[in-house]
Amino acid sequence: MHDDLLTRERIRPRRSRVNPAVRRLTAETSVRAADLVLPVFVRENIAEPVPIASLPGVVQHSLHSVRKAAVEAAEAGVAGIMLFGIPDDQRKDDIGSAATDPDGILTAAIRAVIDEVGDGLVVMSDLCLDEFTSHGHCGVLDVAGRVDNDATLLRYAEMAALHAEAGVHMVGLSGMMDNQVSAVRDALDSAGSPDVSILAYAAKYSSALYGPFREAVNSSLQGDRRTYQMDYANAVEARREILSDIAQGADVVMVKPASLYLDIVRQAADLADVPVAAYQVSGEYAMIEAAAQRGWIDRESAIRESLTCIRRAGADIVFTYWAMAAASGPSSHT
Ligand code: PBG
Repeated sequence: MHDDLLTRERIRPRRSRVNPAVRRLTAETSVRAADLVLPVFVRENIAEPVPIASLPGVVQHSLHSVRKAAVEAAEAGVAGIMLFGIPDDQRKDDIGSAATDPDGILTAAIRAVIDEVGDGLVVMSDLCLDEFTSHGHCGVLDVAGRVDNDATLLRYAEMAALHAEAGVHMVGLSGMMDNQVSAVRDALDSAGSPDVSILAYAAKYSSALYGPFREAVNSSLQGDRRTYQMDYANAVEARREILSDIAQGADVVMVKPASLYLDIVRQAADLADVPVAAYQVSGEYAMIEAAAQRGWIDRESAIRESLTCIRRAGADIVFTYWAMAAASGPSSHT
């Protein structure tokens, strides 16, 4: 009885919450610019940036304006920039030829950004075919119209050598083909680029949350990606994907989307002996921006909470369209 009383009086967790200073001291998780990667879209043949309606505040950059965006990100201390290329519609074909055109938009964007910022931040490229194919799939199709895994690996290998030659630091493998990490690792090594790192989208789910991204990259996709991206009902399978990508040589593994998949992020963090990234995707961004526009949610607090919770779940690195906004704010939310 006496002991119970003492315990009751001594254990008062609220002491650690009494004011912002003590909350900052006791916060277990922070979000710093150095934890964040900014995804950017670069579109062929535009003179000025073009706003993306479903991603308020995000634009399709020109080859010129992306240089400034990269410099600003480096100056803000953001860890990296992920480049997505958007070719002209008439350049899209069955095999995504524009993806392996040495003068194609993505290769040109890599060169421009490297020229501008050098090693000032990690320059990453999306190594996938979906922006370049007329059917919008992440790979090439077989005669029956199915995504052909191993034929696609050959295309990825070509892309990898090209991106490396353009100076990229890290390639992001977002296509969800089996064995894509080892195929690209081999291609990079035999192209004489053993220092180019691989970010593997290891547990990438087929998700409704990629909607605004499809607008952002003028996607031609009809249908869905359920034959190659993961089923959101599955968590055990994510272990297999993550371990397999690490075994194939991934330098960083990613979980995507982030907010609805925090259990997977935690599992990845417990499992992986490489850094874990999480991608806060376009739909996650759009939902908060849209609710904030209507005055239904406080924008700043919702952004801060979403990023902090992704970090708390175990993500070392967070890909977010809010990277610039979050980089300039305080690292603690208190
Ligand atoms: C594929 C790719 C996608 C995203 C990143 N890389 C689209 C998809 O898989 O359909 C989505 C990112 C986002 O929604 O913000 N290259």
